[in-house]
Amino acid sequence: MKKRFLLAPGPTPVPAEINLAMAQPMIHHRTPQFSAIFAETKEDLKYLFQTKQDVLILAASGTGAMEGSITNLYSPGDEVLVVNGGKFGERWGKIAEAYGLKAHWLNVEWGKAVDPADVKKALDSNPNIKGVFVQASETSTTVAHPIKELAAITNGMDNCLLIVDGITSVGVFPTLMDEWGIDVLVSGSQKAFMLPPGLAFTALSEKAWKFQETAKCPRFYFDFKKERKNLKDNTTAYTPAVSLIIGLRDVLKMLKQEGLENVFARHNRLARAARAAVKAMGLKLLAPDAPSDATTGVYLPESVDGGKFVKYLRDDMGITMAGGQDHLKGKIIRIAHLGYVDTFDIIVAISSIEMALRKFGHKVEFGKGVAAAQEVLMEAYK
Ligand SMILES: Cc1ncc(COP(=O)(O)O)c(C=O)c1O
Repeated sequence: MKKRFLLAPGPTPVPAEINLAMAQPMIHHRTPQFSAIFAETKEDLKYLFQTKQDVLILAASGTGAMEGSITNLYSPGDEVLVVNGGKFGERWGKIAEAYGLKAHWLNVEWGKAVDPADVKKALDSNPNIKGVFVQASETSTTVAHPIKELAAITNGMDNCLLIVDGITSVGVFPTLMDEWGIDVLVSGSQKAFMLPPGLAFTALSEKAWKFQETAKCPRFYFDFKKERKNLKDNTTAYTPAVSLIIGLRDVLKMLKQEGLENVFARHNRLARAARAAVKAMGLKLLAPDAPSDATTGVYLPESVDGGKFVKYLRDDMGITMAGGQDHLKGKIIRIAHLGYVDTFDIIVAISSIEMALRKFGHKVEFGKGVAAAQEVLMEAYK
């Protein structure tokens, strides 16, 4: 027997009561029964997104909402600025280019956050740029970009939107759409939402809806105007992911009951515990200056083959964590702490890393990382 733990940055674990709620007999989506569930869900989503705007619910993975946020707001030939500091930043640019937009790439070293001054400089020197595309939490490098500061730049500009991928920030740390002035905020169900993959979300500011009126990129399935019209009638344009929406209704209740401030505080505590543990183990953080509270990236000792290490954790110890991508492949491990996670998930993550490091021949004093994590985690029990 091997007990399995899912500590990857998505999909994340799903609470048993949510799985049970989603296992109920199927209902039809064009019924008052479904519409009542949908009505409740769409209101609670606004709380999670910290917005008065409608939050569209799409049957897709997060990338679907990213794609729709480009095709619904821009036309071929439009110029946009892409903050490219990791795999997902790069994805913004690739989607934009696939639809004929002209992407200006602002490359940021992996593990570092973008400097808002560099964004300002790029916008000042290219007045045609109509959008800044960025991640609130760049999962591939475990970095949190300074969204509030970027919003302060774009807020004063009528012709430029701030488009934020909050796929691993919504429900993890503050990404305050209305208060900060984010124009588009995207997320996905398999992260802090504690749900299986399959739902994508996006909310648009008034300013963004104005862009929608003139945007000419081809689109069909992801048609935000059509979705908004249907949302008002408590339904979706096409067959929704009924079971996931039932699960969504229930997780939103759980999050509301905990309170968003407490949800953020929990994630922050788990993240600080993971970082303290990594340092106590004598390992280096991937993003020491601007770490995301969703995931902690750790450089493994050079003697350790990261690919084999992640595989050993998963196959022999039953603990799924993520490795590195692109040039970080085989070099790092990412400990995820978002969604349905709490104190003892961190203990499992850290103790398994200590044990696996010893297995891989690295000199480890057992308990050093765990103890450092415990010092932080104890805050919850004072
Ligand atoms: C920051 C970020 N953006 C985009 C994505 C892509 O989302 P999906 O795989 O749901 O399409 C992910 C998924 O890991 C992510 O973490």
